[in-house]
Amino acid sequence: MKTIVVFNQKGGVGKTSTVVNLMAELKLKGLNVLGIDLDAQANLTAFNQIVNPDKTIREVLIGACTMAEAIRACRYGDVLPSDTSLQNELMRFASMPAFVIRLRELLKTVNGKYDYVLIDCPPVVNQVTAAALVAADGVIVPAEAEYFSAVGIKMIADTVNQVKPLNEHIKVMGVLLVKYQPRRTLTRELERLLQGQIKALLNCELLKSHIRFTVDIPASQASGTSVRDFKQGSRAAADYADLANEILSKEI
Ligand SMILES: Nc1ncnc2c1ncn2[C@@H]1O[C@H](COP(=O)(O)OP(=O)(O)OP(=O)(O)O)[C@@H](O)[C@H]1O
Ligand SMILES: [Mg+2]
Repeated sequence: MKTIVVFNQKGGVGKTSTVVNLMAELKLKGLNVLGIDLDAQANLTAFNQIVNPDKTIREVLIGACTMAEAIRACRYGDVLPSDTSLQNELMRFASMPAFVIRLRELLKTVNGKYDYVLIDCPPVVNQVTAAALVAADGVIVPAEAEYFSAVGIKMIADTVNQVKPLNEHIKVMGVLLVKYQPRRTLTRELERLLQGQIKALLNCELLKSHIRFTVDIPASQASGTSVRDFKQGSRAAADYADLANEILSKEI
């Protein structure tokens, strides 16, 4: 079982879209996948049409229920839901001894059941995202080809470096360009800038796969389906299929 954390403290950069569509692609390949919603915004939970769950990642993290009790079977694999109550527990988490290794320990209770665990992070750095990074084998960083993304790479590198003493084998698998618009000159310039920064700060590359900009992504989410199931010929469906192959080809 490999755990991949989809992380960027910047908001709206396609983290949840990537978890959703990667889950769908991996399922299509016959792999067993668990998606974990670590975000109090609960977008992964809502996408999977889980409404007012009584057992969520919050209950699991405070020890009120087991992982197995909170996990739901959904269309693109199993999902461990979240809800807004997660936000109210940050002080409690901060005072829990060894909280930061807790998720890694909990994942051992489902080891063997899944080929991949995909963790959808909130757009912040807090104890919960630190716990995700401590549990990670690999990290995917979705980012837009924007100037502010370049600034964010330094923060991501600092966060990853902070968890390294607790997780020596954490590997940033690469930065995934999303909402990609190859015809914009600015995109190509920023791609070069990002490439240099990523190599220097994260010791990885831009992933070869890019997720092109298309309204099919928001439209598919409104209909609760992967972009492939929403529109077979969508360019984003082809892009997420490429991403799944690229991820599977990488050692973590
Ligand atoms: N390739 C794409 N083309 C066009 N729109 C996209 C693309 N990928 C994501 N989006 C849209 O961008 C918005 C943000 O995406 P998403 O919710 O996946 O980001 P996020 O990083 O999870 O956000 P948050 O930080 O709030 O959790 C959504 O409306 C989504 O539909
Ligand atoms: Mg999200």
